[in-house]
Amino acid sequence: MAFPNQFLDELRARVRVSEIVSPKVRLVQRGQEFTGLCPFHNEKTPSFTVNDIKGFFHCFGCGAHGDVISFLMQSDGLGFLESVEKLAEISGLPIPETSIHEKKAMKEHADLQQVIEKSCAWYQMQLSQPTGKEAMDYLLKRGFSEDTIKKFRLGFAPSGRGLLRQVMEQHNISNEQLISCGLLKRSEGSGADRDYFFNRVIFPIADRRNKVVGFGGRLIGDGQPKYLNSPETSFFQKGKVLYNWPQARKAAAENGSVIVVEGYTDVISLSQAGILNVVAPLGTALTEEQILLLWRIADEPLLCFDGDNAGLRASFRAAERALPMLKPGKSLKFINLPEGEDPDSIIHKRTAQGLRLIMDKASPLVDMIWALETNNKHFSTPERRAELESKFNYHVNRINDRSVQYHYRQSLRTKIKSFFQDKINNRKYENSFDRVSTSSQFGPRGDILSLKERQEMVLLSILINHNDLVHGLVEELAEISLSNKDLDNMLREILNVTVDSPDLDSEALQSHLVTNGFESQLLGVLNKKIYRQALFAAPGSSKDLAASALEEIVLSYRFKRLRVDRDVAKEELADEMNEENSNKLLEILREQSGSGGI
Ligand code: UTP
Ligand code: MN
Repeated sequence: MAFPNQFLDELRARVRVSEIVSPKVRLVQRGQEFTGLCPFHNEKTPSFTVNDIKGFFHCFGCGAHGDVISFLMQSDGLGFLESVEKLAEISGLPIPETSIHEKKAMKEHADLQQVIEKSCAWYQMQLSQPTGKEAMDYLLKRGFSEDTIKKFRLGFAPSGRGLLRQVMEQHNISNEQLISCGLLKRSEGSGADRDYFFNRVIFPIADRRNKVVGFGGRLIGDGQPKYLNSPETSFFQKGKVLYNWPQARKAAAENGSVIVVEGYTDVISLSQAGILNVVAPLGTALTEEQILLLWRIADEPLLCFDGDNAGLRASFRAAERALPMLKPGKSLKFINLPEGEDPDSIIHKRTAQGLRLIMDKASPLVDMIWALETNNKHFSTPERRAELESKFNYHVNRINDRSVQYHYRQSLRTKIKSFFQDKINNRKYENSFDRVSTSSQFGPRGDILSLKERQEMVLLSILINHNDLVHGLVEELAEISLSNKDLDNMLREILNVTVDSPDLDSEALQSHLVTNGFESQLLGVLNKKIYRQALFAAPGSSKDLAASALEEIVLSYRFKRLRVDRDVAKEELADEMNEENSNKLLEILREQSGSGGI
């Protein structure tokens, strides 16, 4: 639905930006503006400003910028329409009458939605009837509690192929309406129209506003097809919907992450186990629309498909589909579960904590592309190697964002180089890993990723065991971003708490981290294995040694950052020789030589 500009302007004029921002950010007035800590990136000194007169917010730190509407879109993961509706409600401004035609369509939609809602309630009720006993037993046997069954509004479509029609007839709902909702199939011959779902457990599927728009149905016994969805209608399009989106969006708004699983049952099991930020596509590969939807609530949605070939194929397809769409910071992460497992089975065998541990080992998208082309393949001849290189070129060239493309090229080049180097050293030319489940989690060289993580853990153990050293280096440390997200979050927490309470000793810091949910990271970091490779990181070791080690680490991160900046700047200059680009490069080079060169 399109809104007239005049209405939008009126809306912007009525709702002050600060009014919408202030529940989320503590704002302090400074002259005509407000300032506060940016909700869109991690910071400890305020660079986020709100200007009610001009009607916008702006962050000098991360560049986030927009008006009231886009603030809601970004902070709450709402769509444009939803944001406007919410603001209209807050301000009491009525949403303008749309064209007659549009209005009629909306009314029709609302009526049909009511039909679907009624049917949903009826299916739900069947589950508690004697006819639904088998279905109910099936759901309980799958480990769903009665609360869960209620929460997800699960139901049952009994086997008589005209029951829903009969019931709806009594509610004066016509066959045409039921057909438009995808709940009735027009008979081909002269017989009566027949129910679309029969003898199936029913999973209601809601749209983004949490209105049921379609169903998934699963056979209780054997037979084909095992799962069946409502047919596509004007308001139910499989490729645009994600199962459990409204609930997951709320949960994701809190922790910034979302998990994508294959099936309804996976979603329900995870949710029952307390992992609420979880969605599933409807039996098809992830579409571009679904990926964009996911990026609204998380930078790196985690795909956790079944540990079988279909699951692996689905991961590969999602990776390939996402490539052209990648943006700095926006990607996908992947988990390949052990053969034969799905998230549902893992939860039952190993609890939510076990699943979380597996999910901590997610592979980045670049590793999926690597695995896609190298899994189970041999590279014993120069021709095959050249072919591999050209395949990677093909993938990289599909990436539209230039900066992301550049880093992919670099990353894959490095991988190829070390991969073949290894092969030569080992006098062994075949690919030595089989499934991604083991390979991609650690990268083909087994240790690349974990080495980096170990270095990050060394850094953190110094910061925790010698936390008085943090004070002098807060600014520099804040610039570092660690590759492991949890460790990175822990680093931010350490910096924040050090700034807030400078007198905290190491022990108090540790218990602060535990109460803030970093217990398992802490156990990994304060660990003999880490101390063995870096004695100065251990508690009670020489302060001087720790201090100089820390300084060195901070410097090396700085060099690395400058090196990346420099390479990007060089590329940009090569692409477009202008003064701005050349100044940018010069500045970086100057900074490099200032900090000791590389
Ligand atoms: P599968 O057919 O692999 O189901 O579809 P499964 O995981 O083995 O199912 P269970 O565990 O025996 O019940 C995977 C998921 O894809 C969705 C369903 O959510 C299903 O769980 N799906 C599949 C659809 O939504 N529509 C379809 O037409 C097919
Ligand atoms: Mn499954």
